[in-house]
Amino acid sequence: MLKDGFGRVHDDLRLSVTDRCNLRCAYCMPEDPVWFPRARMLTFEEILRVVAVLAAAGVRKVRLTGGEPLVRRDLPVLIRMLAEVPGVEDLSLTTNGVLLARHATALAEAGLRRVNVSLDTLRPDRFARLTGRMRLPEVLAGLTAAADAGLTPIKLNAVLLRGENDDEAEALVEMGRERGFEVRFIEVMPLDNHAAWDPSRVVSGAELRRRIGARWPLVPELPADPSAPASAYRFTDGRGRVGFIDSVTRPFCGDCSRLRLTSDGRVRVCLYDDREVDLREPLRTGADDETLLGLVRGALAGKGRGGALDLLQTRRPPVLGRTMHQIGG
Ligand code: 5AD
Ligand code: SF4
Repeated sequence: MLKDGFGRVHDDLRLSVTDRCNLRCAYCMPEDPVWFPRARMLTFEEILRVVAVLAAAGVRKVRLTGGEPLVRRDLPVLIRMLAEVPGVEDLSLTTNGVLLARHATALAEAGLRRVNVSLDTLRPDRFARLTGRMRLPEVLAGLTAAADAGLTPIKLNAVLLRGENDDEAEALVEMGRERGFEVRFIEVMPLDNHAAWDPSRVVSGAELRRRIGARWPLVPELPADPSAPASAYRFTDGRGRVGFIDSVTRPFCGDCSRLRLTSDGRVRVCLYDDREVDLREPLRTGADDETLLGLVRGALAGKGRGGALDLLQTRRPPVLGRTMHQIGG
């Protein structure tokens, strides 16, 4: 098992397969991002190697993220490789949905089980403002294609920003209820680094639970997995569920089970912690499995109690060497 110094078992890997993205959400990346040179990114074989080593040590869940994972060429090939790794029980993908209609069938055929799709607004004008691109129709088509391909249950990740799209909580939930998608509201975290984050922009999960519960009565579900960050609620009329990831106001660091591997091959033990451990160089200079695992264990041994807890106390966002698109979700 992969344990950190606080006894937290890490069985959940977030695998960023690229830092590139076809959208420009301001809470995630700078206006003019500088991409990693391709030679710095891990190859599929290198990714497979790391996943196999980690799965042998107890990692059970692998989620592919980006940037936007579907802009990585031949992603279904990687999915097929990862689906065959012994120990990996849950293989999933977080995507902005823009390229999903094009790839849904190939992804399902390659062994992907389900997708989470990021969607913050249902209004085309707002989508363009929030993401810098007019791509809402593609995302909506992507959702339909994913459902048709059986990439279910589909979850929608929504980040609401005060004064921008916080009036859309109900519309998103309504769409989710109609289409059978579980909407999950994620509080915006200071991972953009252009000092745009401000506590007053955070729309708390507590506020959204009140609002949504007033319109559609809710009952909390017992968590199937205690380390799941979302608290899930069931609609009492039986029409599905809604989730809240209170990443700022109620950090779940105490139950954190996540490890991150960046697309340039670094292990990152916390979103908010820049002390990364490089695996790319060892991978390329012939390190054996034991050495790689030792590096991961070393990174975990240095994991703090949790960056989100520090943020809650200080209310001061850390200055980080990476923005979200270079870390992965
Ligand atoms: N705060 C909260 N969520 C974020 N995401 C990206 N940047 C942030 C941020 N600063 C979300 C995306 C996506 C998931 C991978 O992370 O909306 O759904
Ligand atoms: Fe791209 Fe997702 Fe970041 Fe938006 S949040 S810029 S879609 S990686």
